[in-house]
Amino acid sequence: MRRGSTRRFAHEPIDYEQLLAIMDRSTAEIPVDYAQVGPCLAECYLIVNAVEGLASGAYFYSREEGRIELLKAGEFRAQAGYLCLEQELGADASAVIFFLADLASILKRYGNRGYRLANLEAGIMGGRAYLCAYALGLGASGLTFYDDDVARFFSPHAEGKDAIFVTALGHSARGVVRPELLAPQPAPG
Ligand SMILES: Cc1cc2nc3c(=O)[nH]c(=O)nc-3n(C[C@H](O)[C@H](O)[C@H](O)COP(=O)(O)O)c2cc1C
Repeated sequence: MRRGSTRRFAHEPIDYEQLLAIMDRSTAEIPVDYAQVGPCLAECYLIVNAVEGLASGAYFYSREEGRIELLKAGEFRAQAGYLCLEQELGADASAVIFFLADLASILKRYGNRGYRLANLEAGIMGGRAYLCAYALGLGASGLTFYDDDVARFFSPHAEGKDAIFVTALGHSARGVVRPELLAPQPAPG
């Protein structure tokens, strides 16, 4: 009950405008000293489970165009749950953002530091997604994932990329309060 992140999502859909706003704000320019030119290191892929005005499916978010582009249509709740390390949060979320990066070319360009930079970018974008979701009255939760399976799921578009971080979005489920969490704790001994 004291936690900010969503521990359980309702299947209730979020609005397309809400998702676009989250994607837009989360991927806004990050002031960094390492990449004044070229694209940013982390890219956003999505599984959409329940978004009003957007068909369920797998998507790529183009930062340049500010557009969510369809990769494949379909119901992917089960796959979203599996890819998020078999956690219900991924399956129950309205949309799940997968941050991927082309690590091979990043490491070539930045050396080992590139791995940290890709994680930093994905972490900042994921953190912003939490904040945007909360500001819109929605819930969010960062998740762990099956690295290779995530890249495989979004391929051929994501061919050669690696999964870095995941943020699940949706309405927090109400009425799932576990009374034992609210009851006063017995004194030790
Ligand atoms: C890198 C990373 C991985 C995470 N993996 C999981 C996860 O696999 N399962 C989960 O339920 N929450 C996961 N979380 C979410 C955290 O439990 C939680 O959102 C975060 O620590 C915020 O804490 P709060 O819930 O107290 O607000 C992850 C968070 C981060 C940053």
